[in-house]
Amino acid sequence: MNKFFKVLLTSMMALTLAGGLVAQDTPSAEEKEYVYRDSLFNVIAFKAGQLPAAKAQGDQAGFQEIAGEIAYLAGMITDGFQIENNIPENSLALPAIWEDFDDFTEKAHNLQNAAQALADSGNMDDYDPRGFGGESCGGCHRDHKARAN
Ligand code: HEC
Repeated sequence: MNKFFKVLLTSMMALTLAGGLVAQDTPSAEEKEYVYRDSLFNVIAFKAGQLPAAKAQGDQAGFQEIAGEIAYLAGMITDGFQIENNIPENSLALPAIWEDFDDFTEKAHNLQNAAQALADSGNMDDYDPRGFGGESCGGCHRDHKARAN
């Protein structure tokens, strides 16, 4: 092999390698969608965790504000499941989501409506953390989310 080709080959290999690294650094649409929804759920969970504290403190205005935020965030859940069968590494999503997307959407609406009802009424006596989590969160997780290890 003459020198020119050796240099050409080496630079081509370097470029391919660099290309691979760049590709690895740039998340795919699938990964971005997963990060979006995982982040969203963590924000929702944090907010849901603030409800019992607001109730315990008798902070009705705060309670209503948090409930309204959860309702708003719940309206963004289905945006994170637009790519069919998108279950990348670490995702706990189950294929059932896309087998009956109407059902999944309904479960998201259930959370949205339950939270909105609390935001509107401000009736903290109606709110039982276990019941809220069990129905509004668990009602969807049961069939649509794998158990975390
Ligand atoms: C419409 C369905 C649905 C509703 C409603 C829902 N979730 Fe989830 N949740 C999921 C799915 C599906 C995943 C897994 C997403 C993934 O990993 O790709 C998830 C993931 C999560 C995660 C991150 C993964 C984990 O297990 O730590 C948290 C935290 C979470 N949900 C909390 C909640 C809480 C709290 C509520 C209620 C206030 C709630 N979710 C309501 C479907 C739902």
